Amino acid sequence: MARDLTQLELLSELEPVAAENVDRHISMAKEWHPHDYVPWDEGRNFAAMGGEDWDPSQSRLSELAKAAMITNLLTEDNLPSYHREIAENFSQDGPWGTWVGRWTAEENRHGIVMRDYLVVTRGVDPVALEQARMIHMTNGFASPTENEAGFLHSVAYVTFQELATRVSHRNTGKVCDDPIADRMLQRVATDENLHMIFYRNMCGAALDLTPDQSIEAITLILENFQMPGAGMPNFRRNGVLMAKHGIYDLRQHLEEVIQPVLKKWKIFERDDFTARGEAVRERLGLFLERLGKDVLKFEEQRDRMLAREAAKREREEITTLAG
Ligand SMILES: [Fe+2]
Ligand SMILES: [Fe+2]
Repeated sequence: MARDLTQLELLSELEPVAAENVDRHISMAKEWHPHDYVPWDEGRNFAAMGGEDWDPSQSRLSELAKAAMITNLLTEDNLPSYHREIAENFSQDGPWGTWVGRWTAEENRHGIVMRDYLVVTRGVDPVALEQARMIHMTNGFASPTENEAGFLHSVAYVTFQELATRVSHRNTGKVCDDPIADRMLQRVATDENLHMIFYRNMCGAALDLTPDQSIEAITLILENFQMPGAGMPNFRRNGVLMAKHGIYDLRQHLEEVIQPVLKKWKIFERDDFTARGEAVRERLGLFLERLGKDVLKFEEQRDRMLAREAAKREREEITTLAG
């Protein structure tokens, strides 16, 4: 490859692939309705309408389930920021524009159904949730590789992000200890998977078209990847809680998100890189090796932390019994 393709060249070269994948997506996506996933008969008025305001005792969700639900919902709420990123990089024309509109409309459902569920079941404090949404959406989302943005970076980022949200929603459903929440988040996770496939196919086609340029973008994105919740109120606390309890941790990031996608793209089997791409692939290999070591380190720390907490609980129980 003599030179990198411009943004416009990428979009026009990949347009037939986009058209094909939009058709594929629409034929696979099933229509579903948020109202079918919410137990409306549990709903009742809040104080402003003569009822009772939220109280922590009303929630059936554990602290972990609450933290995961809030983090995932606020991420969905930030859709306008993601829409902006995608719309700016994909253009509004032809299949690109169709995809941006369709994807945005589908994503919006996720925030709708999760908020309806949480408000109706009184799973979390609706006032705190609204305040967090205001802060998070006002801050917006900035790509972690802002200096080097563009179509390839966008499409690489969302491939991993969609898969990450799929894992996170799916595991959040499991810890809610409520079959209704589990079914709802399974439904959302199914959407995320289909979104991931669209972006993965687009990024895969880009790799075939311009291998060196694409692996550069992919590697940079992986080296700088941050879950979309970064920067939201309490993200440190909630993110740690989620990682500690296996909703989204480093091993899942490596083994359920990064590795399957890289395998699909045959990154380590391809022979279409020039020396430039080869060098980047080597860098990517080293990055994955370091990440593998970090996984072990994280798990050792986590095990120690969980053991300490269990011991503390045991001591407290003994004290309570003795008292
Ligand atoms: Fe979503
Ligand atoms: Fe999605």
